[in-house]
Amino acid sequence: MKARWMIDSDSDDEQACGPSCVSRRLFMTASGAATATLLLGDVFPGKVVGQDAGAKVEVTKLPRKQIAQLSKLVDGQPVSFNYPGDGDLANCLIVKTGETSGGGVGDAQDIVAFSARCTHMGGDLDGLYNVEHKVAGPCGEHLTTFDLTRHGLVVAGHATQALPQVVLEVEGDDIFGTGIVGLLYGAATNG
Ligand code: FES
Repeated sequence: MKARWMIDSDSDDEQACGPSCVSRRLFMTASGAATATLLLGDVFPGKVVGQDAGAKVEVTKLPRKQIAQLSKLVDGQPVSFNYPGDGDLANCLIVKTGETSGGGVGDAQDIVAFSARCTHMGGDLDGLYNVEHKVAGPCGEHLTTFDLTRHGLVVAGHATQALPQVVLEVEGDDIFGTGIVGLLYGAATNG
């Protein structure tokens, strides 16, 4: 099972965008939209759309890597992992939010994964998940907070870019990372 994303097949700026670049109009909620949903992997690279028509964002398809198991995730308890590599910049977290979340997998589509590096200046967000509000932050550096139910959108603070989101797939009990939406902080490329 792959994460579901909103794809706008009618958008007209694809030609101006490279093969790994899509409109930043990320789908902000995982429910309630009239547009048909497609599987990101089926149309990759595609256009991930939503309500914040703004800057371009890069979607990088990366080697599939097992990062967690469904049976071991507990609501509201993030688990750290590295993706796609092993360095500090690859520090990520996966969390079962307990509510349907953008890009979420699992029966409730509530399992999402993100970089744990703040997009402002790289502050460490590991350990800063707020269970009540389902956000990462506030960042210890300048207080940016990211909504993990809405594709990591900034809800407060200095950062202007959403938290890079790991594209997930589920096979049996295993959860795999297969790519990243956005650019990891401090990296020239995600690969
Ligand atoms: S580094 Fe996170 S808000 Fe500045």
